[in-house]
Amino acid sequence: MEIKKVFVVGSGLMGSGIAQVTAFAGYQVKMHDVDEERTAKGMEAIRSSLGKFLSKEKITQEQHDAALANLATTTDLKEASDCDLVVEAVFEDLEVKRQVFAQLDEICPPHTILATNTSAIPISSIAAATKRPDKVVGTHFFSPVPLMRLCEIIRGLQTSEETMDVAEKWAQSVGKETVRVLKDHAGFIANRLYLPMGMEAARMLEAGVATPEDIDKAMRLGYNLPMGPLELADMTGIDVLMNACLAIYNDTGDPKYYPPPLVRRMVAAGLLGRKTGRGYYDYSSGKQESYWKL
Ligand SMILES: NC(=O)c1ccc[n+]([C@@H]2O[C@H](COP(=O)([O-])OP(=O)(O)OC[C@H]3O[C@@H](n4cnc5c(N)ncnc54)[C@H](O)[C@@H]3O)[C@@H](O)[C@H]2O)c1
Repeated sequence: MEIKKVFVVGSGLMGSGIAQVTAFAGYQVKMHDVDEERTAKGMEAIRSSLGKFLSKEKITQEQHDAALANLATTTDLKEASDCDLVVEAVFEDLEVKRQVFAQLDEICPPHTILATNTSAIPISSIAAATKRPDKVVGTHFFSPVPLMRLCEIIRGLQTSEETMDVAEKWAQSVGKETVRVLKDHAGFIANRLYLPMGMEAARMLEAGVATPEDIDKAMRLGYNLPMGPLELADMTGIDVLMNACLAIYNDTGDPKYYPPPLVRRMVAAGLLGRKTGRGYYDYSSGKQESYWKL
């Protein structure tokens, strides 16, 4: 099956990134959200990102203009009716996603593949809202989408091999390296390994074993990671990580995903990382600075 037209539901951080790389790769893309303010914000993020690539001479003016020409926005989900692939990137909420998928199932022609960018919700639970679970697949991108190279392709209980193949080829065609997740297990591959590390780093800090600087330095120098787990948590958002961990914990009952008290207190206090100016480090000066006292 050939993908030509792609519909992206949700114009937030991930949806706009997915729309951008897809339009850049030459597909006709429609990006949807609930109101025009949000689609405009998504388009602004895309213009800004493409503008940066252009000013750094990573892309040409022609590529920049062609990507924008391939993009349109809409607030009407019915406009997905002529698309070959829909990628959903709405809020991480099973009920919201199920509603979107049930509507898409009614709107889209039978050949359309419905992909979800969920981080932690089982693909099979989302697919159950449709009458085409064989055509529902996980395509898990990483943030920021235009820069991060990975896309995990996740097989739900009923996803067909053809759907996996088409989703994988599409993700590769928009410039991503892919890995196949063959079982619909919470956390897929990357988060299943990374989240417990983030929680264990917080437990170590809570127990006073080492400072945030030394925990991060140990992992950067000892394992050659580009960032330590705590500075990465600050970048991602400690609330985002906590919620992803809780979702996996609720699904599996595995205690290694249960956020320790320190993480829960930091979220309650609004110490969420870069976005609030403080997390495991302080960002109020615009730079990452130490402030943690043990
Ligand atoms: N942020 C990340 O780093 C990251 C990484 C990988 C996966 N994800 C997943 O991607 C998805 C989107 O995350 P995000 O960070 O882009 O969120 P976001 O809050 O930036 O964007 C979500 C967008 O969805 C829109 N939306 C909500 N309900 C809708 C509906 N019914 N129809 C259309 N649009 C609707 C919202 O208005 C919002 O613009 C989530 O499932 C999240 O778990 C996020």
